Amino acid sequence: MKVLLIGGGGREHALAWKLKQSPLLGTLYCAPANAGIAEIAQCVALDVEDHAAVIRFCKEKSIGLVVVGPELPLVAGLTDDLEAAGIKVFGPSKAAAQLEGSKGFTKDLCAAYGIPTASYRRFNDASSAKAYGAGQSLPIVIKADGLAAGKGVIIAQTREDADAAIDACFAGAFGAAGAEVVIEEFLYGEEASFFALVDGATALALATAQDHKRAFDGDQGPNTGGMGAYSPAPITTDALCARVMEEIIEPTVRAMAARGTPFRGVLYAGLMIADGQPKLIEYNVRFGDPEAQVLMLRLKSDLLPALLASAEGDLGNVALDWHDDAALCVVMAARGYPGTYRKGTEIRGLAAAAADPNVEIFHAGTKCDGDLLLADGGRVLGVTARGTDIGEARDRAYQALDQIDWPGGFCRRDIGWRAISRASR
Ligand code: AMP
Ligand code: GLY
Repeated sequence: MKVLLIGGGGREHALAWKLKQSPLLGTLYCAPANAGIAEIAQCVALDVEDHAAVIRFCKEKSIGLVVVGPELPLVAGLTDDLEAAGIKVFGPSKAAAQLEGSKGFTKDLCAAYGIPTASYRRFNDASSAKAYGAGQSLPIVIKADGLAAGKGVIIAQTREDADAAIDACFAGAFGAAGAEVVIEEFLYGEEASFFALVDGATALALATAQDHKRAFDGDQGPNTGGMGAYSPAPITTDALCARVMEEIIEPTVRAMAARGTPFRGVLYAGLMIADGQPKLIEYNVRFGDPEAQVLMLRLKSDLLPALLASAEGDLGNVALDWHDDAALCVVMAARGYPGTYRKGTEIRGLAAAAADPNVEIFHAGTKCDGDLLLADGGRVLGVTARGTDIGEARDRAYQALDQIDWPGGFCRRDIGWRAISRASR
């Protein structure tokens, strides 16, 4: 089967790497891809926003499945348009992608179906938002309703900060995404990422993972897309997973079907866990990045039939096997990320770094210029390793990473600290 993968980040490199191992795969195409993906797939210069062009390409090449990596094309309705043209897609419809595209939509769904989450209110104007905020305890969380590339969440410690965040949202700091604002209760606890494949009716839990959202060691500094991840996540015990499925994922899948907007694809629940009780922080409608990197390293089964079954409504017949090994990914980002950073700095030493068979280096923002490998984004590489436990995976990942010669980049040195300190307690 020919597959078209949409996206060009570390997540898509990991998906491409895993899809490549499928005996069912014919040609793998990727748009827009990156320098790492280019080594294993045929890169296509497609404008993903031009749905008609994507459809034409799929028909021309007889694509059997389109796998959509990032959220933007999903929220823009790429799945709907491809399916209307008779092309199979892994990834939700525009209506189902509202689970990520509108925080207010998800909060209302949780409220209607008793799904545990932070208490909240939705607002269309600053003065009523501020009046509500004034009556709530601190810290308080202010969120732009729509997609804001991970930047639309402000945790305000003071009333002044809360008011300033509300004003910034309505003044357009997050563009159209901030035209509506959600104000919610601050949740205490430990975060984990939970993933399930869904086919409209059936949900199949994937392995557990945790990422590190803050830019600097000790979970300090600004929020990022994710500076590292590991799997399994020791906090997500079997009992907790069962609760998450029963109290959060399955009610959501049923609710989406009941609304007439069944969810197909991967449902990624960002959880806050306190005293063994999971609450939903937010949904994403795609694999996490860098969580996909560690999940793909641990997945033993063929990924392609599972994605196809999600698209075809046939997940009931799929079981996935996982390696017992742990996996850990350290992200190397351009200095300055998540603020302003330079593109075009040279990266050397990848071949030596990737020599360990337990290590995979997934590219995110990279491009080739002749023989040179250049940084071409904020998050640039995901150095990913497996080991018998998270400590061993971490040591291997950092040993590989330390062979990479890239003065323009930085990474956190403490990925996995929670899991490792838990194991040594
Ligand atoms: P989101 O984009 O909704 O995942 O939010 C980004 C990050 O903000 C999350 O990963 C949490 O660290 C934090 N966050 C969001 N909502 C809350 C909340 N209600 N309580 C505590 N932290 C939150
Ligand atoms: N790692 C967080 C995300 O993918 O949104």
